[in-house]
This record gives sequence, structure tokens and C-alpha cells, in this order.
Amino acid sequence: KKNIQIAIDGPAGAGKSTIAKIAAEALGYTYIDTGAMYRALTLKALKENINLEDAESVTNLLGKTDITLKPSENGQLVFLDGQDVSQEIRSNEVTSNVSKVAAHATMREIMVQRQQEMAKLGGVVMDGRDIGTAVLTDAELKLYMSATVEERARRRYEDNKQRGIVSTIEQLQEEIALRDKLDSEREASPLVQAQDAIFLDTTELSIQQAADAILKLVSERM
Ligand code: C5P
Repeated sequence: KKNIQIAIDGPAGAGKSTIAKIAAEALGYTYIDTGAMYRALTLKALKENINLEDAESVTNLLGKTDITLKPSENGQLVFLDGQDVSQEIRSNEVTSNVSKVAAHATMREIMVQRQQEMAKLGGVVMDGRDIGTAVLTDAELKLYMSATVEERARRRYEDNKQRGIVSTIEQLQEEIALRDKLDSEREASPLVQAQDAIFLDTTELSIQQAADAILKLVSERM
């Protein structure tokens, strides 16, 4: 069996991380949530009152920031300069600012290098927005996962409820639509389906069905 690279991209709330985690577990692979890295940087920028619109400040900040992902029982823990920020990076404040931070090309170069380093031995399931198009361009399996914005908002709502975060479906739908717009329209590695990615619409699929679909595609590539 080969230790392949699996790249999963798609808009917010498409179920990427949930399904990537299950697939990684089934394969004995490492799950890497790249969105968590952009969120951790955003958290630090907010704390340090950095101008989020300023590419140079944001890039310099990343240069002196350690972001470590550690596998844990339910997926992954995120450490920012040694501190566990796994919960904090999911706050509304981080969520509503992360796309601004993620837009800077010079910062992304560093982020992408770090992600490539993490994935170089293979045996990884990596999810994000530009994995198939910029980070793991030679990945053996590339997926582009999506679902209707209504369904994605509904899932986020359930997710948040579990996490104890208060929200309304309407508010989430707006936030998701805005984030998708910013992520898709930015100049630096925008969210777009890679030419060689397989499109997976999860609107009507259960978590298990989506995970099974991926595992079938993986088995064909091993
Ligand atoms: O996946 P998640 O929703 O946690 O990602 C948070 C944000 O990080 C995205 O909305 C996007 O702005 C940014 N991101 C990115 N490239 C990635 C992963 C996430 O620009 N590979």
C-alpha cells in the first residue's frame, strides 16, 4: 500500500474537516486542517492589534509565529506559540476576520511551504481552499467538496450548538456566503476547483456516505 496525499478543498461548511478526519482515521493517515493555521495567525494578529489589511505586517507576524498541529483523539489540536488555541480559533471574531488575513500572497507563501513540509512523507489528508491548486499539486487524489449554502449553514449551526457557540442559521448563512465570496474572489490562490479534482456534492450525503465515497476513490489509487 502506498502512502498517498489526499487534497480536499471546498467552501466553508461543506463537511471537509469532518469527512477528512474520518477518512484519515480509517487509513491511518495524518489529518491536516490548514484552515486552523490561518485561524491561529488571525487570532494572534487580533490579539496584537496588527492591521489585518496590511500584507507586510501580517507576513512579518507569521515569520515569528509557531503554529503546530498535533493529532488528538477527535482530530487535531492547534498550538499557537506553544499554547492550545483549538477552541479560541473557532470564535466568531476569528471566523469573521480570517479571510482578510488569508488574502495576503506573501504570507501565503510561507504558510504553503510549512504545509508542504508537513505533507512531504505522504500518508496525509489535508483540507483547505488551495490544497489541490497550490499546496499539494501532485496529490494522488484531489477532491472538491461542496453543498448548498443553506445546507452548509444548517450544518454549521448544529456544529456551533455542540461547541456551545450561540448563532442563528440566517446569520451563519450570511457569514458563510461572505467568506466564500472573499475566498473565491481574492487574487492569491483563490478557492477554485483544481482541474484534476473530483467534485463531490455532499448536500444529500450523510457523513458516512461521503467518507465511504472518498475511501472508495482512495482504494482505487493504492
Ligand atoms: O477551513 P476553515 O473554514 O477553518 O478556514 C478558515 C479560512 O482560512 C477560510 O475561510 C480561508 O479564508 C482561509 N483558508 C485559506 N486557505 C486554506 C485554508 C483556509 O485561505 N488552505
